[in-house]
Amino acid sequence: MKFKIPMFKIYWDENDVKSVTDVIKRGTYWATGPEIAKFEEKISQYVGAKYAAAFNSGASALHAMMMAHGIKPKDEVIVPSFTFIATANAPLFVGAKPVFAEIEDKTYGLDPQDVKKRITRKTKAIMPIHYGGCPCMIKELNEIAEEKDLLLLEDAAESLGARIGRKTVGTFGDSAMFSFCQNKIITTGEGGIVVTDSLETYKILKLLSSHGRPETQDYFSSTEPMDYITVGYNFRMSSITAALGISQLGKIEKIIEMRRNIASKLDRRISEIEGVSPMLPPERYYNVYQMYTIQVNDRKDRDGLQRHLSKKGIMTKIYFSPIHLTHFYRNAFGYKDGDLPVTEDISRHVISLPIYPDLGDADVDYISQSIAEFFRGEK
Ligand SMILES: Cc1ncc(COP(=O)(O)O)c(C=O)c1O
Repeated sequence: MKFKIPMFKIYWDENDVKSVTDVIKRGTYWATGPEIAKFEEKISQYVGAKYAAAFNSGASALHAMMMAHGIKPKDEVIVPSFTFIATANAPLFVGAKPVFAEIEDKTYGLDPQDVKKRITRKTKAIMPIHYGGCPCMIKELNEIAEEKDLLLLEDAAESLGARIGRKTVGTFGDSAMFSFCQNKIITTGEGGIVVTDSLETYKILKLLSSHGRPETQDYFSSTEPMDYITVGYNFRMSSITAALGISQLGKIEKIIEMRRNIASKLDRRISEIEGVSPMLPPERYYNVYQMYTIQVNDRKDRDGLQRHLSKKGIMTKIYFSPIHLTHFYRNAFGYKDGDLPVTEDISRHVISLPIYPDLGDADVDYISQSIAEFFRGEK
């Protein structure tokens, strides 16, 4: 279905085109060119971490992050159920068990109090997400991780540039992953990166991402035999992708400013409508609005509102339906309705509206008027 207002539009310019074209025209090093190390360096600087290792997707980055931190079969990793499926699947990639904890209703991130209750002798890590670009209660989660001697791994897929005060998301835990899939703050089509302050972790990440081969020289241009010291994958980001990433990163402040501007206009309009409420992050929480999610006060109205907006040509999505209630998680782990009541309740109330840098004032008017129309009964 083609919507008049889609969920997202990619913000791109001629510099993106030139960056990619330059690599193509070079006619070589499309795989392992110098753009990768440059992109990694620029991301690590931007986030404020010592190292960054690029990947071909956020999910493969999460997989490698699990392995690099030694998460093993029978270990438990505490994750939210209110997230994209890859967060919960990541522990499964290495044979570990995702253990779901509830979320709180301020940021829709992991609820630190509930996390405490889920810790067992098998718990190895806590992996929260920063929902839709809004930092979660990461400081509180960090305290728990430190007290219980657990790893804190941030699934920061949606939140490049978000921060609490001056401290950026991605620097609170032991490692963090950012995604560059097409609906993220900046995008390379597909892509991901792990940032960390640990040289050891960084080295393992690089090893895993390229067949378990220490890259002492460039494989494609060296005549020297090269060794393979562990099982590895091809999780590498290509040079073409990294070139696009560098160019996109150059626009990030502008993109975030535009998104925040639109979000504050939407906040104002949404708070005037009886029946819905905007999500208002705590003070000093700098939300980059990868998503713009509102609460429908009476959950009975939510699906009707979605249908109404679809009829008006406005795309919306339910971010997220709980993972523990998906077919796979019900079957594999025996989860059932009511297992995570807070998560399930929040999930029934939320609806995410379109947000992207080019969303104009007329679009904001149209979206908010269409929502108001629904609650006035003009369906
Ligand atoms: C919270 C979260 N984790 C993980 C991922 C996976 O990233 P990717 O789509 O780049 O594999 C995403 C992206 O959709 C996400 O939103």
